[in-house]
Amino acid sequence: MKTIKCLVTAGPTREHFDPVRFISNPSSGKMGWNIANAAKAKGWDVTLVLGPSSLPDLEGGKTVRVVSAEDMLAACEKFFPDTDILIMSAAVSDVRPKAYSAQKTKKDKIDFNPQLEPTPDILKTLSLKKKSQILVGFAAETQNVMRYAEEKMKSKNLDAIVANTVGSDGAGFASDDNKIDLILKSGEIVDFHKATKSRLAASLIDFISVKFFGGR
Ligand code: PMT
Repeated sequence: MKTIKCLVTAGPTREHFDPVRFISNPSSGKMGWNIANAAKAKGWDVTLVLGPSSLPDLEGGKTVRVVSAEDMLAACEKFFPDTDILIMSAAVSDVRPKAYSAQKTKKDKIDFNPQLEPTPDILKTLSLKKKSQILVGFAAETQNVMRYAEEKMKSKNLDAIVANTVGSDGAGFASDDNKIDLILKSGEIVDFHKATKSRLAASLIDFISVKFFGGR
């Protein structure tokens, strides 16, 4: 039987002003790294595209380390055509500086009103190239979590989205625990409750395997 090919993204991206200053977020990469390991444990062929993170490479899989949203897009575009499922758990920075200085900017020359621009939307870009791939996104929200997640699923043309409640005690960014619901395009909702990221990753992969790949 054909092995399922899975592309997972994890971690933050860094959008640099200069070599030592950047825009980013507190993502540690743990959620996506655990998903990649759970997919590996299922016997899938896994490629992990990992933003700046102290986590080790995936054992028995491929790890591609990237820095910016642009790098992450390029890595995903490379593997996407030969992928059965993309799980996009990375916290991609939504904005980046318009200008980049190759040398560290001296303190008295810092622009306190820098021009920003949007980063490329990786999921949206790949959804336009979608053939038979399953696309699963994430949405980290502090309020109206289910509504905002559903809106993101529709606007990015996804098959499913993980609604991630963040900002509550000990869950979300950088924590070992998380609180997630999975929303499917059909409207089905699965509440995975609060648990460790490792446990949630295993449950999520089990569910996805049955739902989209007949339990493989
Ligand atoms: O890494 P950890 O510390 O373990 O934390 C895990 C997490 C909280 C980062 C993770 O579980 C999570 O929720 N990731 C999504 C973060 C988020 O807020 O995504 P978003 O709502 O900005 O984006 C929605 C979806 O579009 C995401 O799948 C994102 O990867 C994707 N996206 C976003 C921006 C962009 N330019 N391109 C994208 O593809």
